[in-house]
Amino acid sequence: MNYPMCDMQRVLIDTEELDAIISRLADQINRDYAPVPSRTTLILCVLKGSLFFTAALMQRLTVPAELDFVKVSSYGKGTESSGELIDHLFPQRNDWQSLDVLVVEDIIDSGNTLSRLTERIRALGAASVRVVTLLDKPSRRQVDFRADYTGREIPNAFVVGFGLDLAEQYRGLPFIGIPREDVIRAATEQASPQK
Ligand code: PRP
Repeated sequence: MNYPMCDMQRVLIDTEELDAIISRLADQINRDYAPVPSRTTLILCVLKGSLFFTAALMQRLTVPAELDFVKVSSYGKGTESSGELIDHLFPQRNDWQSLDVLVVEDIIDSGNTLSRLTERIRALGAASVRVVTLLDKPSRRQVDFRADYTGREIPNAFVVGFGLDLAEQYRGLPFIGIPREDVIRAATEQASPQK
């Protein structure tokens, strides 16, 4: 077996199922987001993990929308710290009042990142803020947070692919996979562990 399949324990969501999930989410969004005069729909891609999901989702949207990027991290993520949101990249805009923001996320785990990020966007005065996530691990929640649109709930397994990484590897896989235990161990020995 060749790379990258040799590093996988199994495929959790294959390419065909990913396609179906993303098409269903796009249908829901297309129904909910009718164009409103003087308002703009802003697709906000949360880097890096949401890059592939955002691209696939946007290709299926029939509502006019702009695209922007944010890169944030929760301080103390993966530890007991409640921490704060750190901006690595945040849109410098002065039109928040006219924006219907749709935050696009690859996975929700503790919920800390998105609860803080949506709070921040609301505080900036956005006309509306909703969240679409490809994956959700509800069993990992530390704060009460629910996405408006959820692709698939998954168990508490370490997943990679379609944007999700293990020590920055495997983001380009066209499926969601679960790496072998020894592959995870080897990668996390050199980096701080994921969830
Ligand atoms: C992941 C994911 C979310 C966040 C979810 O990003 O893309 O942004 O973690 O975790 P939480 O619900 O516990 O806050 P990560 O920090 O791994 O960055 P990346 O997308 O650049 O890999």
